[in-house]
Amino acid sequence: MLRSTFLGTGFAVPDRVVTNDELSKLMDTSDEWIHTRTGIRERRWVREGETGADLAFRATERALKMAGMAAADLDAIVYATSTPDHFAPGNGVYLQRMLGAATIPAIDIRTQCSGFVYALSVADAWIRSGQYRRILVVGAEVQSTAMDLTTRGRNTSVIFADGAGAAVVGPAGREDQGILAFDLHADGQHAEKLWVDSPGSMYHPRVSPEQLEAGRHFLQMDGKEVFRHAVARMPESIRAVLKSAGYEVADMSLLIAHQANLRIAEMMQRDLALRDDQVYNNIMRYGNTTAATIPIALDECLRAGRIASGDLVVLTAFGSGFLWGSAVVRW
Ligand code: UT7
Repeated sequence: MLRSTFLGTGFAVPDRVVTNDELSKLMDTSDEWIHTRTGIRERRWVREGETGADLAFRATERALKMAGMAAADLDAIVYATSTPDHFAPGNGVYLQRMLGAATIPAIDIRTQCSGFVYALSVADAWIRSGQYRRILVVGAEVQSTAMDLTTRGRNTSVIFADGAGAAVVGPAGREDQGILAFDLHADGQHAEKLWVDSPGSMYHPRVSPEQLEAGRHFLQMDGKEVFRHAVARMPESIRAVLKSAGYEVADMSLLIAHQANLRIAEMMQRDLALRDDQVYNNIMRYGNTTAATIPIALDECLRAGRIASGDLVVLTAFGSGFLWGSAVVRW
């Protein structure tokens, strides 16, 4: 059976580092509170003029280099973001233009924190069906431009951040290698528990001074509810995806989980009884970059030699929607 696998990965973050102490000067918070509740020490935010597509372009250059390929070799782009540069068109076409790629298809996936896993499933289906061979999968976000930098917004503005990760995916070279299974879910009952209300096409006009005044254009989150569901759904999905590929938790070499909050990752590690060498966390340095956390972590693991040929790697995510899901990959 034809399977797809990772041919190259890369990531890019803005060079502007924002520390917890810097945020403490803008709102009523502290390094101690942020670190204790989330594990985050610092995050990256774009400077004015730097866009999500810019970050995605830099991440893609690195992924292409690792794959030994050029933009002209790509057959399609699948771009996951919940924070496109514009309402329309999506960011896929901006990235295609920057890459100077041919008129290959470029689609945006809007599944927020689960964006990379969902985007990967689309690329995998295209490759297995034989429609396209080499697909660029991107997870990239700019959250910092929708942050309420006052005490009113402190439960989200200390967590969310900017970054991009990219992967070139293509047919696997060995029969036992590649993406083995996906497990994908949505539950729209919880749509307003982590969302950006405005601008929206249901409003006339799409955004009003009253909405801006009320902060409805900022990311809003019911943190406790999101936390409660995240620690249940991700382990459930990890077990399910491994089972559907014929494995169990003990067989997993490495878990790369969405970086939402280090406390969520720690609870999950305990629930699944995983050793420290079976998990990877980098939220301390980058915060929660939504669709970008998994490809950033994956690239760091690959370049640090944390993943070897034959390893069983699981990617898992949970977030706004609620949407969640996992992928299991034999390296
Ligand atoms: O990527 C998508 C998924 N996102 C997540 O998974 C995030 C999940 N949720 C969380 O990580 C946590 O809920 C938070 C870290 C966001 C919040 O932690 P919490 O322990 O649930 O705090 P809370 O929202 O219940 O707030 C506890 C207290 C409140 O004060 P009072 O009402 O007890 O006086 C908040 O106002 O902490 C206060 N608080 C803060 N204090 C200092 C909230 N944010 C801050 C802050 N600094 N940044």
